[in-house]
Amino acid sequence: MKINNRLNSIEEYHFKDLESIKEKAKSDGKEIIDLSIGDPDLPIHPSIIRGLIDGLDGEEFNKYPPYDGLKELKLEVIKYYREVFSVNLNLEQVIILIGSKEGINNIIPAVCDIGDIVITPHPSYPVYRTSGKLWGCKTYNVLLKMKNNYMPILEEIPLAIARKAKLFFINYPNNPTGAVADEMFYKDIISFCEKYDIVLCNDAAYNEIIPPNKRPTSLLQFDNKMNCIEFGSMSKTYNMTGFRIGYAVGNSKVIKSLLKIKSNVDSGQFIPIQKAAINALKLDRMYINTMRKIYYERKEATCDILDKHNIKYFRGEGTFYIWCTTPKNYTTSEFCGELLKDYGIIITPGHIFGNMCYNNFRIALTNTREYICNMLSQIGYYN
Ligand SMILES: Cc1ncc(COP(=O)(O)O)c(C=O)c1O
Repeated sequence: MKINNRLNSIEEYHFKDLESIKEKAKSDGKEIIDLSIGDPDLPIHPSIIRGLIDGLDGEEFNKYPPYDGLKELKLEVIKYYREVFSVNLNLEQVIILIGSKEGINNIIPAVCDIGDIVITPHPSYPVYRTSGKLWGCKTYNVLLKMKNNYMPILEEIPLAIARKAKLFFINYPNNPTGAVADEMFYKDIISFCEKYDIVLCNDAAYNEIIPPNKRPTSLLQFDNKMNCIEFGSMSKTYNMTGFRIGYAVGNSKVIKSLLKIKSNVDSGQFIPIQKAAINALKLDRMYINTMRKIYYERKEATCDILDKHNIKYFRGEGTFYIWCTTPKNYTTSEFCGELLKDYGIIITPGHIFGNMCYNNFRIALTNTREYICNMLSQIGYYN
C-alpha cells in the first residue's frame, strides 16, 4: 500500500511509544514510577463529575454540540478572564476545543498557507513543530537558553524569517523548562509580532501551575489591540486530561478562521464534558491554591534530592516539570534508559522537545511526594 511521504519527516508521538515500554516493564514484574507524561495524578473534584452526570440528564445531550462550544461554557471562560486577568472578551473571541492540542494543530492551517513559516520555541512541546510540518509549513526554531531564563531573544531572529513568518508559538509557563514570562517580555514580543504582522499564540496550558498565592498572567493582559491568541486547557489545572477539553481566546478574526477549520474537520466536544468544564471553572480559587501547594512541595523535595545526587536543573517557577541536565558522559537516551533499567524510573529524554536537547531530560512531578522521593533517592551520585 502506498503511504504518503509527508509522515517520513515526523517521529511517532513519544508518549504513544512509551505505553508499550511501560507495559513490558510491568509484565516483567518491575516496580516502575512514571514521571514522564504530564498527566496529573491528583483526584478529580466531585463537582466536575457532578457536571458530567447532570449533563447526561439534559435534553439532546447526545446530539451534535455547537461547533464553537456551549454558550454557557464560553461565558464561563469570559468570566474567568475578567475576574482573574481583568481582560474583557466577547463571545466571538472564544472557542471551545477538544483539548488545547486540537486548537494548536488547527490554528496552523487557520493562519498559514503551505510553505509559510511558523516560529516555534526550542525546546518545546513537540506538537508545534510536528503540526507545522504536517500542514506543509516551514518551522523556524528560536532557541530558549538557560542563561536567558528560557526566554527567546527576539533580536536573534533573522529579519528574513520575521518578515515571512505568519505564526509564532510561545508557551509560558513553559513545558519542559518551567520558565515563566514577565510583563516586559509579553510587551516586547507583542510589539515584535505587531511590527512583522505575525499571529502570536501563547499556549497557556499551565497558566495556573505556579507557586501558591502567586497571580497567574495572561498574554492578553498586555495585548491592547486583541491581536493575539491564547490557548487554555482544563487538563492540567483540573486533572481532566482524559476529558479532552480546552479553549482558545483572543483575536476574533483568527478565532473565526480556527472555527472554519474545526467545523470542517471535526465537531464540538460532547455536551456533558462541556458541562463538567463549566463546573471546573466555577470552583473556588482555594481549590487552585491547594493544587499549587502540592506541586510546589513536590518540586522543592525533588530539587533537594537532585542537589544531593549532583544533578543540575533549572529552577523554573511554573509547571510541574523539572528540566535537568544529564550527568557527564551520558546522552539523554542513555541516562533515561539507565534510570528505567536499574531503578524503574521513567522520565522523558530531552530530544523529544527538540533535537538539540541531547543533554537534558524532564521529570514530571505526577506522583506523590513520598513516592517520587523514595524512588529518586535510590539513584547513583553523579559528577
Ligand atoms: C505545553 C502543552 N500544551 C498543550 C498540551 C495539550 O493539552 P490538552 O490536554 O489540553 O490537549 C500539553 C499537554 O501535555 C502541553 O504540555
